Amino acid sequence: PAFTDYQAENATISQGLVESNHAGYTGTGFVNYDNVTGSYVQFTVTVATAGVYPLTLRYANGTTIDRPMDVTVNGSPAAPGLSFPGTGAWPTWVDKTITASLTAGTNTIRAASTTVNGGPNLDRLRV
Ligand code: GCU
Ligand code: CA
Ligand code: CA
Repeated sequence: PAFTDYQAENATISQGLVESNHAGYTGTGFVNYDNVTGSYVQFTVTVATAGVYPLTLRYANGTTIDRPMDVTVNGSPAAPGLSFPGTGAWPTWVDKTITASLTAGTNTIRAASTTVNGGPNLDRLRV
């Protein structure tokens, strides 16, 4: 099916930096979340039709410690404490897919870290 990519480096970032020092990202880079609780990346996602959609976050976590995040859609929990386990190395990117209900028109999708380790490095959201 058709999909749309929303690059993390073009999204709204709170407590994070756009970087490109680990290979394998798409677009022009990725977001390095600050290693603090509550750092987030927020996407504005537009769909024509309301419904349940797969949301795929492409990330890397070069540590062996999970970097869970709360994923919210329009302010409501969609995937609380979603696990982003280690991917083996920072240049190793992995897809994490959830499903969530979106409304017709614009939707705000936020992925916010829940531990002092911050989030993983985030490449994109695919809807
Ligand atoms: C390293 C890595 C960063 C990563 C950071 C972290 O500094 O280069 O890309 O974000 O570790 O542990 O969060
Ligand atoms: Ca980081
Ligand atoms: Ca990217």
